[in-house]
Amino acid sequence: MKNSESPFPCSVAIAADTGIIPEATAHYQKRLSDLRGLFLDPESLERRIREENDPVCYENYAFNDNQAEGDLFFGTTIIYPGKVGLEYHLTRGHYHRKRDHAETYQALSGRGYVLFERKDGTSCTAELIPGKVTYVPPFWAHRSVNISDVPLVFLWTCPVEAGHDYEALAGRGMRQVVVERNGRASIEEREACVSARQH
Ligand SMILES: [Fe+2]
Repeated sequence: MKNSESPFPCSVAIAADTGIIPEATAHYQKRLSDLRGLFLDPESLERRIREENDPVCYENYAFNDNQAEGDLFFGTTIIYPGKVGLEYHLTRGHYHRKRDHAETYQALSGRGYVLFERKDGTSCTAELIPGKVTYVPPFWAHRSVNISDVPLVFLWTCPVEAGHDYEALAGRGMRQVVVERNGRASIEEREACVSARQH
């Protein structure tokens, strides 16, 4: 436990269009070069890293570094619009270190999906749009995708002890992908897309 005293109630400002939390206690950015192995099209990824000086794909602001069990941890993720080849920008994704811990996502602006996957290989997606709350149940890995042409900003809230296990998804895609087909977002099976690229 970092803080010896119990935190006080407060209201925390969040800019819905940028996701900035001025009082954030933590912040990080991930660039395209941090996401190698995740996209269907590694050649397009390397070209964008080279030609666009390795742009930021997404960033994250978090509030509350109190580590007491039973407390809540919340913050924003901002995924910038763009594609690698046909595939929309995404986050690296994770399981919770404590697999039986859940989370909620609430989009504040933009539009996207959450890709879900379980250890047994089951996969599914859920919308991430303003006006809906996306429930992230225990035991499901989750990775988010921005299909809009503005930043996708969403608020996430989870127990502080949930923790993050990024290793289980490191350097690999999930079973489903979101790609642009005829100007629209299409959710497809990764295996089908990989074999289509090889033929
Ligand atoms: Fe999570």
